Amino acid sequence: MSKDVFSRIEIVRGDITTQQVDAIVNAANTSLLGGGGVDGAIHRAAGPELLAECRTLNGCPTGSAKITKGYRLPAKYVIHTVGPVYGGGGRAVAEKLASCYRTSLQLAAEHGCRTVAFPAVSCGVYGYPVDEAADVSIGAILAFLEGSAFPERVRWVLFDSVAFSAYEAGLRRAGGAAGTGVS
Ligand code: APR
Repeated sequence: MSKDVFSRIEIVRGDITTQQVDAIVNAANTSLLGGGGVDGAIHRAAGPELLAECRTLNGCPTGSAKITKGYRLPAKYVIHTVGPVYGGGGRAVAEKLASCYRTSLQLAAEHGCRTVAFPAVSCGVYGYPVDEAADVSIGAILAFLEGSAFPERVRWVLFDSVAFSAYEAGLRRAGGAAGTGVS
């Protein structure tokens, strides 16, 4: 893994709805019609136009992603991805989670996004252990960035200290000492 890829990723502790980036990623469900957790926070911050646009998208399969405008959010776009429910874990679940990151990054690149922020997809209601999710998502993002100039920068925004520490440790395991901080 080339060292400069690590310079393109960072981990912060904070609220994804306040991030000054081109696109934020939402941990949605297959209906794309909102929910709790980060999905609820993003819809509250974006305003009702977000749900109105989501209604036109006819849902989204697990492991895939769809893009909308960001409306009242600082971010220009919201990329809605649907993570897997952890259940018993295993390779198929890990591959679905990796696919969430790949498809989200692909959409971001297609829309010329230079900066993208991710939450810890599937690590809340969907029960994905955060240390396992960190390894899967970091691996998927590093592999994508190796092959693509866009997005230029990827930020994980972790809402609590457990997730923040898990992602920091995951990044160290992957070989990078990311720029970390609290935003
Ligand atoms: N900013 C960043 N991260 C947040 C925020 C926020 N404002 N709010 C919650 N999180 C974190 C949670 O702490 C967790 O680590 O996002 C991570 C993902 O948790 P969930 O939001 O529960 O998402 P997920 O586990 O993928 O479950 C998706 O929950 O809200 C519903 O509609 C959603 O059905 C879908 C399911």
